[in-house]
Amino acid sequence: MTREKPATHWWRSAVVYQVYLRSFADSSGTGTGDIRGLMDRLPHVVDLGADALWLSPWFRSPMHDGGYDVADYRDIDPTFGATSDALALIDRCHDLGLRVLIDLVANHTSTDHAWFRAAVGSPPGSRERQRYHFRPGRGEGGEDPPNNWISAFGGPAWTRIIEPDGTPGEWYLHLFSEHQPDLNWECPDVVTEFDDVIRHWFDLGVDGIRVDAASALAKDPDLPSVDLDLSRGFIPRDWPGTPFWDVERVHDLLRRWRAIADAYEGNRCLVGEVVVNTPDRFAAYLRPDELHSAFAFDLLHSPWDATEMRAAISRSLAVVEKDADNPATLTWVLSNHDEIRHVTRYAPTVARGGDCTVALDIGLSRARAALLLVLALPGATCLYQGEELGLPEVLDLPAELRRDPTFHRTAGAVLGRDGCRVPLPWSGDRPPFGFTAAEPWLPQPADWASLTAAAQRSEPTSTLALYRDALRVRRRLLGANDTALRWRESSPGTLVFDRPGALTCVVNVGAEPVVLEAEPVLLSHHQDDPMLLPPGCAAWLGWQRTDEDGGAPPSPAGPASTV
Ligand code: NOJ
Repeated sequence: MTREKPATHWWRSAVVYQVYLRSFADSSGTGTGDIRGLMDRLPHVVDLGADALWLSPWFRSPMHDGGYDVADYRDIDPTFGATSDALALIDRCHDLGLRVLIDLVANHTSTDHAWFRAAVGSPPGSRERQRYHFRPGRGEGGEDPPNNWISAFGGPAWTRIIEPDGTPGEWYLHLFSEHQPDLNWECPDVVTEFDDVIRHWFDLGVDGIRVDAASALAKDPDLPSVDLDLSRGFIPRDWPGTPFWDVERVHDLLRRWRAIADAYEGNRCLVGEVVVNTPDRFAAYLRPDELHSAFAFDLLHSPWDATEMRAAISRSLAVVEKDADNPATLTWVLSNHDEIRHVTRYAPTVARGGDCTVALDIGLSRARAALLLVLALPGATCLYQGEELGLPEVLDLPAELRRDPTFHRTAGAVLGRDGCRVPLPWSGDRPPFGFTAAEPWLPQPADWASLTAAAQRSEPTSTLALYRDALRVRRRLLGANDTALRWRESSPGTLVFDRPGALTCVVNVGAEPVVLEAEPVLLSHHQDDPMLLPPGCAAWLGWQRTDEDGGAPPSPAGPASTV
């Protein structure tokens, strides 16, 4: 039976296109992308067939963490434009049928935020300090941090301030960089301020909010040291609950924000960045009165391995399938501004001509197959700008140009995220590829000419064409279809599942070609025999009834040896 999706649940199957503004398109000749640049390029997103945009933070910020260090939550950073530009963008998107999600960074502010400045200028124990986590240090002179917590970006999670009288004083907590002091969500000022910030943006017409670092928000107020092996780094998905991550109190906040969203017309939604230790902990964030959706990172973190990928998909889906009355869903994602681009992640290292090279051709084919995989799964999908062009990670950025605080806080031991944030190539045969009239804030590789949007637009076998086709077919077949996924038995190394009433998805994750035994092939991305699926390729087949549906079960995929 095909289940119909209520129109109000648009977020259950939306294709969201993530815009990392500073790298999207520059209209003003600063070398950094901006809102007007995005507006000029909106036809690209519309042609692609996306339903919504998610904009990484556009608020006033000193940009120590690319805007995830907010100095004023109600103002637009001048590098990106003015509030009038933001409003014009929201209107234009709505005219074009695109919804707009913004990014709410509520775990921390910037050290440039008026609150933090006031806190540093006020005495210990003051109301100004209580909005953050200030504590005296340990040791005789207070020279040791208050506890052993570490920062996600490397090093300790604490920085000591100089008091107004010039003496070394209290320490403040920052789970990310020293420029991002964590807010104290036990403080009523913080709670009411963010209620107001959320309403401010909903009043201005945004359709949804991506909740940054959702599982970091609440802290155990005692801030106790943890008994964990922190030498492996900051890996919350490997940790059981800690006093600084996935603390129960976070759910009160999410319920509060959900109630605010629900009070608005227009089906506003909350999509969370939730990284926790177990599926049950994850499920808690998706209770009917909390987030509408959360990114499904398990699949993103799986290697190119059929068993692991299937397990990740099943584990994630089990979370949202537990309660049939709860419409909360998953947002699948292969890349974003924090992760190595998946063309590179999926590329094996191979020996070629006596050298070891990253086989980007294989990575690209697998990335295309992964697109057909995620777009066929029940739930929403988030695409990261540039993946539709098949961009690889840029691995060779010079150290002096790297901006990610992770790189600097680990003295270069962790390369960080600049390589996935390189400005987009739009047109032309050399940098800056139409991105800017100036020098791009990060250099683009000289060999990206064939990857530009202009070069791919009229090329029927390009990655861009595949994305466009896949989104179009998905909208037609799965737009209103809300069926669960049904796995089919298939040969080792393959993933085969039905979306009843719509399509059958076959992904060849193995090393041998796979024969497709059922027609028609609705979509695939290899040029050879349409019925023979090479390694690293996927296809969507017309859905065929199985025994369960009362029909004959043709096996859609078998190993080549069965031909
Ligand atoms: C998650 C964001 O995606 C990342 O870019 C940022 O650095 C951290 N949260 C801190 O805000």
